[in-house]
Amino acid sequence: MNYKLHRKGNQNQTEKLTFDIEMEKDPPHVLIFPIPALGHVNSMLKLAELLSVDGIKVTFLNSEYNHDRLVRHTDVCSRYTQRLPGFQFKTITDGLPMDHPRTGDRSADVLHSVKSVTPPLLKEMLLNEIKPPVKCIISDGIMSSAIDVARDLGIPIIYFRTIGACALWAYYSLGEVIDAGELPIKGTEDMDRQIKNVPGMETYLRCRDLPSFCRADDPMDKTLQLFMSETRSTPRADGLILNTFEDLEGPILSQIRSICPNIYTIGPLNAHLKARVPENTSLKPSNSFWEVDRSCISWLNEQPLQSVIYVSFGSITMLSREQLLEFWHGLMNSNKRFLWVIRPDSILGKDGENQIPEELVEATKERGYMVGWVPQEEVLAHEAVAMFLTHNGWNSTLESTVAGVPMLCWPYFADQQVNSRFVGEVWKIGIDMKDVCDRKVVEKMVNELMMERKDEFKKSSSEMADSARKSVNEGGSSYCNLDRLINDISLMSSRAHSC
Ligand code: UDX
Repeated sequence: MNYKLHRKGNQNQTEKLTFDIEMEKDPPHVLIFPIPALGHVNSMLKLAELLSVDGIKVTFLNSEYNHDRLVRHTDVCSRYTQRLPGFQFKTITDGLPMDHPRTGDRSADVLHSVKSVTPPLLKEMLLNEIKPPVKCIISDGIMSSAIDVARDLGIPIIYFRTIGACALWAYYSLGEVIDAGELPIKGTEDMDRQIKNVPGMETYLRCRDLPSFCRADDPMDKTLQLFMSETRSTPRADGLILNTFEDLEGPILSQIRSICPNIYTIGPLNAHLKARVPENTSLKPSNSFWEVDRSCISWLNEQPLQSVIYVSFGSITMLSREQLLEFWHGLMNSNKRFLWVIRPDSILGKDGENQIPEELVEATKERGYMVGWVPQEEVLAHEAVAMFLTHNGWNSTLESTVAGVPMLCWPYFADQQVNSRFVGEVWKIGIDMKDVCDRKVVEKMVNELMMERKDEFKKSSSEMADSARKSVNEGGSSYCNLDRLINDISLMSSRAHSC
């Protein structure tokens, strides 16, 4: 087969350049390997699709547990395996027993387990199981053991860090933050202290905006150390893919380029996929570990323009019963309509206590709608939706940005603390409510976003949404960077050893 790669011009050139790389052999074969969490699988599947439609052969390595859920609740098999020539799924254990809950409160178990069981299995699969030989690995950027395996086998490896540049840079700088004595945090009264050792963020980053694992009393805490050491390994990879765009995170990207010059900013991936593969919009979402309930769209269709608060805390956040009630009262007291995603496993408590109280479900019907899982991108694009009460997972943050929907931020863990600070203080496309869960504050901030400062937030969110769209359209920064990535994969693959 003659593999042909077309690369179109770049934004700075008036004359369009088109050049082809003709290769004698088969198309490059890339292994894409996310850690087993929906937020990661979600964006790496989008990248896989973009590479596949460009003719690259992709093997996507999922955990057995997650793959089973994807197959049950989505059309991944027809959407990928049957539609995209050369695409295949493979599975690998995450090392945990099948009955482990893998919920937000236990997510560190998944990371520690994957880190300890994966390397020999991955090596064995690359040597003996995955055919034809893999010529380039794109691994989750929090799996340094994949770099060791790749180096051992002489295969080029590119990292894909699924969080934003802002969080990545904060993670990367934690060594300096600790060395300067800025960590550990000394109690709740210390939370507003400015952090001075994350370059570029000196004027706005506070203790409370650091990644959640920095709240550990001991800087030697196992999870804090794991995130720090994994992030420090980033420059060892041959390149770094980020689901972001230059207009959103330019200044922080410049900081990261000082330690890792070869960065491919190709996001927002959801918008990029729509721009390059327009027929994609008619396909079902491929990122669900739960059954999508489309009745929410019929409910939204009945609501006035710009009247609904969309509420979702992503795929792993857990809420206590008290928090659930504070949010509920805040939303009800705001007198606004709301659509609230409450996953079946998302309320903490023993059997019986972890259900939505029946009287609350009944009272909600007045002007709210509760569902287990929605087609989120479609919901955010709906004309009835006015704002998003979100945990600021990176995918949700970008999806809201693309849709131009202002955010009320209630970060749960990890990178979300950093993301919400950027939404509120740097991009000014929402309000950060972190560390507070109080019905009066919820009501007040909803009113601020939807009434008092509505025009201001609408303007800033629409402008950012425009920049996002420009970046993925032909000639935009993310568009050109994806072309460069595809080109580089081909060049790297032609130099890779055969294992
Ligand atoms: C998180 C975050 O990516 C990151 O902050 C953290 O480091 C680890 O994983 P998650 O909590 O799932 O993932 O949040 P997010 O990144 O926002 O991803 C959720 C995805 O699920 C989004 O793409 C969203 O569109 C989708 N979703 C959510 C639905 O399709 N339907 C829903 O009802 C809710």
